[in-house]
Amino acid sequence: MSGASSDALVFFGATGDLAYKKVFPALQRMILHGRLDVPVIGIAKAGWGLEQFRDRAADSLARHGGIDRDAFGKLSGLLRYVDGDYADPATFDAVRRELGASRRPTHYLAIPPALFGEVVGQLERSGAADGARVIVEKPFGRDLSSARELNRILHASFDESAIFRIDHYLGKNAVQNLVFFRFANSFLEPIWNRNFVESVQITMAERFGVQGRGAFYEQVGAVRDVVQNHLLQVLANVAMEPPVRSGSNESVRDEKVKVLKAVLPLDPSHVVRGQFRGYREETGVSPHSRVETFAAVRLRIQSWRWQGVPFIIRAGKCLPVTCTEVFVTLRQPPPVYAAVPPANHFRFRLGPEAAIAVGATVKRQGEEFAGEEIELLFSHDAGSAEADAYEQLLGDAMDGEPFRFSREDYVEEAWRIVDPVLKADLPVSGYEPGTWGPPAADALAAPGTWHDPTV
Ligand code: BG6
Repeated sequence: MSGASSDALVFFGATGDLAYKKVFPALQRMILHGRLDVPVIGIAKAGWGLEQFRDRAADSLARHGGIDRDAFGKLSGLLRYVDGDYADPATFDAVRRELGASRRPTHYLAIPPALFGEVVGQLERSGAADGARVIVEKPFGRDLSSARELNRILHASFDESAIFRIDHYLGKNAVQNLVFFRFANSFLEPIWNRNFVESVQITMAERFGVQGRGAFYEQVGAVRDVVQNHLLQVLANVAMEPPVRSGSNESVRDEKVKVLKAVLPLDPSHVVRGQFRGYREETGVSPHSRVETFAAVRLRIQSWRWQGVPFIIRAGKCLPVTCTEVFVTLRQPPPVYAAVPPANHFRFRLGPEAAIAVGATVKRQGEEFAGEEIELLFSHDAGSAEADAYEQLLGDAMDGEPFRFSREDYVEEAWRIVDPVLKADLPVSGYEPGTWGPPAADALAAPGTWHDPTV
């Protein structure tokens, strides 16, 4: 733990979607687990008072996991509310007043990045930034230069050790388990390299579309929404070197930055963008939109360990299934036996239910020397509490624990990798909802094929 725990949580965007879907449920769970006992001050410009804010919290909980009477009673007692414009100094004077004796608040900016500069400046002016931590949400910038600019804005008032950039994938147990499993078992390390691994595939498929977030999605697209952040985090966990100091969280973050440094910038000819048919009719979406709701990319890592091993990533909305999975294909053994199915792999299911499995080939029953594919399940975590990522992350930030957050240098490296694609204005092909995106994406997996997570 680095430093004392925060003595208040201030969250901007308190009447917004993120607060409604994720933050209130996380706060209730923090109370249930004894992790929250400080004032929680919501800020927004909605013309609301404290009672409406409490009602909103109750409504959010009722729709996302249910209300626990005792915990909600306690949460209600901790809630405060400030209504006001983010450009108005009076709003921040009111925040400072609500903070009362609190001297180490955590400010959670659940607001569009375009407002960060204004809010951070006002926090500084009002004195509410003194001794404080700040949490920011993804997307952290739109490209490398805007991410650098955001970092500059935040660093003007906060030290890097006080900045917590949320990527909720880092709060997922299954994502953390990628690193844990790799380095807690000795059988994996000898084969975890270009000599034994043929390819690494990461699929993040979602059956649903943009779910009413058309206006937001128009500003981002799949590469910015999930590839630059969630899926590069997953790649880093699969590909990083072991941390040099056991138990040191900064060592892990150092290794993640190192592996991203070895990833070559995306070659636009190794990218396929798609848009599901019907996207342009969504509310908030331009009828001529060229924003991608599907992206497939092929990355190369120029390192001793991974030279020549393709890392291919695909992510999309309106695909056949909702599932996030890492599929590591091992090289085939020489053909001693005929008709052996290609089943040497590791499969890491990250959601909706977590599992780790290894695919192997065994002899089929009978006289014939024929193989059959089996999967050994190492771990299976049905109904895993993925919704708890926000509880973990808010609690960590308030404790000053940086491990599950993206460091400045990491975020900038991730943007460096995808930047050429964002600037290239590549074509976007339509695809039917319920399919695996444009057929052109198949070629990116060559000479192999994409693993279908439904089989
Ligand atoms: C968010 C994206 O960051 O992650 C969404 O903005 C996406 O578009 C979501 O649906 C997926 O998160 P999870 O935890 O459901 O895999």
